[in-house]
Amino acid sequence: MKMLVFGSLNIDHTYRMPHLVRAGETLASASYQRNAGGKGLNQTIALARAGQPVSMAGAIGEDGLFLKAYLDSFGVDTSLIRICEEATGHAIIQLDAEGQNAIMLYGGANQQMTKESVSDALSGFGPGDYLLLQNEINCLDEIVRLAKEKGMKVILNPSPMSDSLPALLPQVDWLILNEVEGADLTGTSDPDAIVDALLARYPACRIVLTLGTQGSMYADGENRYFQPVIKVEAVDTTAAGDTFTGFFFQSVLSGRDIPYALRLAANASAIAVTRPGAGGSIPSLDEVLEKMK
Ligand code: RIB
Repeated sequence: MKMLVFGSLNIDHTYRMPHLVRAGETLASASYQRNAGGKGLNQTIALARAGQPVSMAGAIGEDGLFLKAYLDSFGVDTSLIRICEEATGHAIIQLDAEGQNAIMLYGGANQQMTKESVSDALSGFGPGDYLLLQNEINCLDEIVRLAKEKGMKVILNPSPMSDSLPALLPQVDWLILNEVEGADLTGTSDPDAIVDALLARYPACRIVLTLGTQGSMYADGENRYFQPVIKVEAVDTTAAGDTFTGFFFQSVLSGRDIPYALRLAANASAIAVTRPGAGGSIPSLDEVLEKMK
């Protein structure tokens, strides 16, 4: 079984603020950092750090070559990342005193996927291989269509949410989403009602719902499990969900049971939020196992 993440690579510009800027307000930041980010890159690093051999497909400009080198340093196969003429995607991230964030995205090279580049990227994959997607690149419909045609299993993290996403959901094998995305899709904010509504629409899908400070849950047609949050002092919540995603799927794909995978993922993201940055905040498997003792 091979694992491919097809997704975004961003340069994150992170500003620590007294509070998130309000409309019409000008506010000085206390600090500035330039970090490796993008939901695709972060989830790839989380998979790699959890011990999963992983390839990443996507696109960057010349200004983003350091992101590719960063992925290389974790042993990721980066041969499917294209260098294009467009500037690398970036994110402007505000962090408040509690480590909560507000993120503004510029797509750049992340929006330069074409039918041809999708076909090239998926050419080495086939039945039983896994594809992990988020919603920060274009051509998602073509990627999902071709992946299913090849017999791949598709995991979708519908983040950020958009109007075009629901049309893809009938083809998805796993859906990993947060409570806000769950509410957007179902019109309810109660976690059990969210997964009930999703399973009623997509009965064969496996759902992982993260609930912020409330924890996380898993549901399929037969089983439902809940994992409480691991309480820590957060300094930066950026990439907490990405860390959860990578550790959860490495664990499930290596044959662990769902309750263990939820616990591993919860501990991994609890460590990530105590550290600044996105890709750089993701712990190693050893650090997570040490925390679980
Ligand atoms: O999930 C966190 C990520 O969202 C950041 O790294 C930022 O680049 C945006 O893609």
